[in-house]
Amino acid sequence: MKETQFLNQIVRSLLAGQLKAAADPHRPRWHLAAPVGLLNDPNGFIEHDGRYHLFYQWNPLGCEHRNKGWGHVTSTDLLHWQHEPVALLPTEPYESHGCYSGSAVSDEQGHLTLIYTGNVKYPDGSRTAYQCLARADGEGGFAKLGPVLELPEGYSGHVRDPKVWHDGRQWLMVLGARTLDDKGEVLLYRGETLADWQLVGPIAGSGRGGLGEFGYMWECPDLFPLGDRHLLISCPQGIAPVGEDYRNLYQCGWLAGDFDGTNFVHGAFHELDRGFEFYAPQTTQDSQERRLLFGWLGLPEENEMSQPTVAHGWLHQMSCPRELFWQGDWLCQRPVAELAALKGEQTRFEGAPDELPALAIDSAWLDVALCGEGRLGFGAVVELVWLPGRLVLRRKNWQSGEWEERSAPWLGGKITVLCDRSSLECFVDGGRQSLSTRYFPGENPVLSARCGGDGSKICLDHWPLATCLVQ
Ligand code: FRU
Repeated sequence: MKETQFLNQIVRSLLAGQLKAAADPHRPRWHLAAPVGLLNDPNGFIEHDGRYHLFYQWNPLGCEHRNKGWGHVTSTDLLHWQHEPVALLPTEPYESHGCYSGSAVSDEQGHLTLIYTGNVKYPDGSRTAYQCLARADGEGGFAKLGPVLELPEGYSGHVRDPKVWHDGRQWLMVLGARTLDDKGEVLLYRGETLADWQLVGPIAGSGRGGLGEFGYMWECPDLFPLGDRHLLISCPQGIAPVGEDYRNLYQCGWLAGDFDGTNFVHGAFHELDRGFEFYAPQTTQDSQERRLLFGWLGLPEENEMSQPTVAHGWLHQMSCPRELFWQGDWLCQRPVAELAALKGEQTRFEGAPDELPALAIDSAWLDVALCGEGRLGFGAVVELVWLPGRLVLRRKNWQSGEWEERSAPWLGGKITVLCDRSSLECFVDGGRQSLSTRYFPGENPVLSARCGGDGSKICLDHWPLATCLVQ
């Protein structure tokens, strides 16, 4: 589609849909969601010239996975975001089927530069991909510089999601890939400039680094130092469930190891979030030296159209901004400290679960200490069951009405739950595990609790969280 035609349709889509989306009782109060249409992966997360920039995969014309461009918001505090001009729309032949995910860097001249995948599909069902550049045009938009990298030999058309960084000497890039014989891999490239890339080789993937068979495609890789180790976060597709692990359609996890600029020697794969919806996260290091992360609280191809927000013309939301840190050799996550600014008046409860007053969880922060066994209910459609050594997140599926569950090990430590209208994010044992989910409760949902046996007890701090919308 031509750019002006596209922009006209976006204007119409916003004029017709924005009020309806904003009036949806499931619309988040302080999480990022698209004004209308579909939002998926966070893209181009960076702090540049004193502002955080976050881009996102956006279909501004509907809730289907089509017409993917990049929306753009900026903030100085990770809470109050402002809309910026649309960054990318798929208007060129080399991106005919979407400006897919990618990252942002400050180039050699200090210009904010985007590197993204131009996705091209052919009528016979095949596809190709180009890694492309676009540079800030000085007026809030981005000027496309075109493709800088085509498919490597031996790989299918599924090569995408460039994450680029400068290591002080050279540019480096990781790409998600699917080989011609259906193995998921992460490819490493090196570049003197952002326009000139050499393949180093695969640094992780199915059949590599002791992983065994590990999926047919790895999406959205991100490789970065944290403390004295490196982390690779990526999203493998095609892994069957094993016991309590890998229960979602697609996985998202981390590998810790040593990266010497060429090879990445790593340990086991661990899920980054053990809830129902969490995918395609992206990190950046900010000027306070924090490694920050946004994830998508969604999963591709998982009955997305059955979510009730589709009737209000919008679909999906981001996670809260999180900070990554180590506890020994275990990767942990916590909500960024800035979020505390949204907290209102504190209510404290201590006692038997059955005596818990009905606390509002429309938009709330809960810090919970639990003894014995029991369950916390969130608006009658989600439960957090605490058992010795394990936390179980149960949800009444909004389509089938059946209860389904995910779980995480629990050392008995504090649990933080962030509630925002139609999402819950649980941080367990000070962030050693996280469990995130969308849910669609009735109006004004409240927290409830039940004992699971003698001696069960709850100590709970509750704060309402203020609304904080994108302006
Ligand atoms: C992950 C993903 C990426 C792709 C993008 C398209 O959710 O499939 O691999 O770039 O979404 O929107």
